[in-house]
Amino acid sequence: MSKFEQIQQELSQEPKTWLVTGVAGFIGSNLLEKLLKLNQKVIGLENFATGHQYNLDEVKDKVTAESWKNFTFIEGDIRNYGDCEKALTGVDYVLHQAALGSVPRSIADPITTNSANITGFINMLMAAKEQGVKSFTYAASSSTYGDHPALPKVEENIGNPLSPYAVTKYVNELYASVFAKTYGFKAIGLRYFNVFGPRQDPNGAYAAVIPKWTAAMINGEDVFVNGDGETSRDFCFIDNVVEMNILAATASDEAKDEVYNVAVGDRTTLNELYETINSSLTEHGVLIQGNLNYRDFRVGDVRHSQADVSKAKSKLGYTGIYCIGEGISIAMPWYIEFFSNYD
Ligand SMILES: NC(=O)c1ccc[n+]([C@@H]2O[C@H](COP(=O)([O-])OP(=O)(O)OC[C@H]3O[C@@H](n4cnc5c(N)ncnc54)[C@H](O)[C@@H]3O)[C@@H](O)[C@H]2O)c1
Repeated sequence: MSKFEQIQQELSQEPKTWLVTGVAGFIGSNLLEKLLKLNQKVIGLENFATGHQYNLDEVKDKVTAESWKNFTFIEGDIRNYGDCEKALTGVDYVLHQAALGSVPRSIADPITTNSANITGFINMLMAAKEQGVKSFTYAASSSTYGDHPALPKVEENIGNPLSPYAVTKYVNELYASVFAKTYGFKAIGLRYFNVFGPRQDPNGAYAAVIPKWTAAMINGEDVFVNGDGETSRDFCFIDNVVEMNILAATASDEAKDEVYNVAVGDRTTLNELYETINSSLTEHGVLIQGNLNYRDFRVGDVRHSQADVSKAKSKLGYTGIYCIGEGISIAMPWYIEFFSNYD
């Protein structure tokens, strides 16, 4: 039995209370669904900056009416300390996901990104420490590797940040480490690498590449590649991220005050990604009508990214079993249903 299977069994037998911030977002709503299916009590904090009520409605449809009663929703803002305190009442485990994602968004508006990602983060960290929660797990980011050239990325070797977003995510790690030193409050940071899966927003200027391209291809529109298509990423299916959050939240004290890569340990170029999505859609009978177009590289993007996930495997028992192809084929029916009705 894997560590994750063992923990799921234990949690089902002895349910806990979890706080998921950013609960109406992509990753937050997937965490919510899994936790409710494991019979946990979940409090969700959300200000709908980029999250959607329809993500919560979809989770409601996917769990039993009984499980849904275990969910308490709080509309509030992590930039407001009182909202953080309120959401933390009675909480065992915190999964802090709320932030403004996207490198280009942070370049267009660094001040707003800073307030959600740094002020919001320290509010949550401080309020969680004061509350005396059992654990605090937060969404860090592979952008913290910045301009460090080595591949694969190993947790201790980081470079200079390449965007305001990357600065904010690095500052989260610095605060977490200082809180461990000064207050003995030990958090765990999860450096996510390009996560994808159901409920990831395909819309707007700051959409991630997989939902954006898939939506365009389903709707017969052109796909745009930033650069020559040889830029590569370690695309990580959402179920790997859910596994890692639950492993981190329930980890022993020795595994805390650390950051961990969350990815597959593989690398896929944008050109290969296009082919993977294309063939999956074709298998599902979707006729691809749009064209593939290349345009300039995007400012702030790193050229290649690939994680070393051995630390997560050895210290937390992470399996990360879903590779990109498997993740895309699991997600495709959802993409087709959702994006065909998308406005
Ligand atoms: N998706 C990825 O590939 C990826 C990669 C690295 C890191 N991350 C991090 O993972 C986390 C979740 O990302 P996601 O992809 O689910 O994005 P998302 O935009 O879908 O979710 C973020 C959620 O946080 C909420 N939020 C933002 N500001 C808030 C505030 N001030 N108060 C309360 N709620 C607020 C948003 O409304 C949204 O629901 C973020 O911290 C992001 O930086 C994501």
